[in-house]
Amino acid sequence: MTATTAGESTPTQLTTYLPSAEFVKNAAIPSMDAYNALVKEAETDYEGYWGRLAKELLSWKVPFTQVLDESDAPFFKWFADGKLNASYNCLDRNVEKGLGDKTAIIFEADGGEVTKITYKALLDKVCRIANGLRAMGVKKGDRVVIYISMSIDGVAAMQACARIGATHSVVFGGFSAQSLRDRVEDTGAVAIITADHQVRGGKLLPLKSIVDEALILGGCDSIKNVLVVKRSGSEIAMTAGRDTWMDDVVKGQSTTCEPEWVEAEHPLFLLYTSGSTGKPKGVQHSTGGYLLHAALTTKWTFDLKADDVFWCTADIGWVTGHTYITYGPLALGGTEIVFEGVPTYPDAGRFWKMIQDHKCTVFYTAPTAIRSLIKAAEAKDSVHPKSYDLSSLRLLGSVGEPINPAAWEWYYKHVGGSKCPIVDTFWQTETGGHMITPMPGATPMIPGSCTLPFPGIQAAIVDETGKDVPNGQGGILVVKKPWPSMIRNIWGDPERFKKSYYPDDFKGKYYLAGDGAIRDEKTGYFTITGRIDDVLNVSGHRMGTMEIESALVSCTDLVAEAAVVGRPDDTTGEAVCAFVVLKRSLPMGDEAKAIAKQLRDHVGKEIGPIAKPKDIRFGENLPKTRSGKIMRRLLRSIAKGEAITQDTSTLENPAILDQLGQAY
Ligand code: PRX
Repeated sequence: MTATTAGESTPTQLTTYLPSAEFVKNAAIPSMDAYNALVKEAETDYEGYWGRLAKELLSWKVPFTQVLDESDAPFFKWFADGKLNASYNCLDRNVEKGLGDKTAIIFEADGGEVTKITYKALLDKVCRIANGLRAMGVKKGDRVVIYISMSIDGVAAMQACARIGATHSVVFGGFSAQSLRDRVEDTGAVAIITADHQVRGGKLLPLKSIVDEALILGGCDSIKNVLVVKRSGSEIAMTAGRDTWMDDVVKGQSTTCEPEWVEAEHPLFLLYTSGSTGKPKGVQHSTGGYLLHAALTTKWTFDLKADDVFWCTADIGWVTGHTYITYGPLALGGTEIVFEGVPTYPDAGRFWKMIQDHKCTVFYTAPTAIRSLIKAAEAKDSVHPKSYDLSSLRLLGSVGEPINPAAWEWYYKHVGGSKCPIVDTFWQTETGGHMITPMPGATPMIPGSCTLPFPGIQAAIVDETGKDVPNGQGGILVVKKPWPSMIRNIWGDPERFKKSYYPDDFKGKYYLAGDGAIRDEKTGYFTITGRIDDVLNVSGHRMGTMEIESALVSCTDLVAEAAVVGRPDDTTGEAVCAFVVLKRSLPMGDEAKAIAKQLRDHVGKEIGPIAKPKDIRFGENLPKTRSGKIMRRLLRSIAKGEAITQDTSTLENPAILDQLGQAY
């Protein structure tokens, strides 16, 4: 890889990195000319472009005759009269191509035990689960909630749902009983697939007992069956008539299962994510369009080849795990690593050791993980990437939050050995797959920039009226044309879908991403400047400030009022900072610390540990304008520890600024 210094016009004066000749030689998109030709093809004949790719990458039971149906915009339909099955595309067709004995998944458990499964064995497993679900009466269109940690069983459960046309909704294993209950109720699911326990960092954590707790909370009468995978084998409570061990579900089931051929628009999954207001929303994805982009982005952005060993470190509870573990790599017949646990157990060298042991070639992780591993590596040589043989790597990726140039350069140098391109992929739960990202064999990379739109994606930056802003000027990130893997609806709430993503401000024509962005004057490269709504991104996990505020005020004995903002954090990107007014007198010292702990635990119980505020500040009131509006900009300054430059003359009670100065 050659490094050249960018010209003076690059305001940040960052180095530009070019892919090496060796990488370019075999790359799927080997030059900017090849990239530009695809962009041009999409511009000239948008439907022809996506239609061609849908035929090339997916196997259709019934071919589609229409590519895009805009008649009910913004409820766009793609390949609507075509029929297919996602599980067939990920499993059967690879076996039919002669890849039955190829390793599909290399699974490494928290304690280091490795299990490998071939395409044929994975297909057999999926068919048996699918038959078991069918035997319980689960059918096309039913929803199934999956609450399980990283495992072959988790991936197989998702694939089994897809096989019978049941819509899965995976709930991240770190969410609380209350959050799980809310999601079960909203989906109206008929079954839950879970495990007895999960193992993280050497600790056994409950799953099944949290499902029990969620179901007792009420509102989940739709659940008829709970299927329990054995992970720990420890004793757990089983409710007769409702709970069945997965081993018993699949016992005696056939290893063949006719796939349910579904319409391309059939909902493959619902995945809950946070918005700026209200409860988390159930993002609804399709089968055909989603699977096309999952496969296509894996092929072009990750340049996946037959002999690659791909590793996406995300959890299947997030969209990244859906697209780049369960669907994309399998749709292409790839070999992938799946891991259970955390990057820092048994030590912070776990990722590097796994890359070495499994000869990983393409590695995809989040900036938060990189930043925390940098800290650990700088403190201890034995967990530094230099202590491992990482020479198998040929491509690196980043996702979920902005990657700061310093972390990018460290990743490039110490993990990639200064020879692997880095794809900084910008996308969202709602977009289904990559939207703005380098093509690794073509795009010159600038640390901190996600560079240019994926071929065919019409990303743009506009002002509040929907007018394009010139390069060099920040604005609102939109997508001007529908794309195959876009969100189809918010489950059960089409009005919220329209308001959130196709607001009247842009005459309902542009998809509103919710992020701000700026394009470089000279290169036109995109840099994401952060959310423009009240959504926080903590360690790449998306959370609404309102959700956390609701959780705090639900502690009714203690809390009178709460406001939550984000502040920058060196490791987690952003940190949750809560401002709390108690129903009692202002606490100090140890007492304040104890109450802060109590509130953190409460948020952990209401939402999950990931939402626990890092800082809690107490005041007798919150800073408000005379009209009673909380001055959030001021709170953000306090949270950052900045000198207050805002006008505070309208503050009703300026003394509270002193009280809020102390974080617990
Ligand atoms: O703010 C952007 C940020 O993560 C948000 C989407 O979060 P979620 O739906 O949880 O999906 C995360 C995994 C795709 C975006 O609105 N984000 C994601 N990727 C990047 C990013 N910000 C900057 N650079 C990225 N590469």
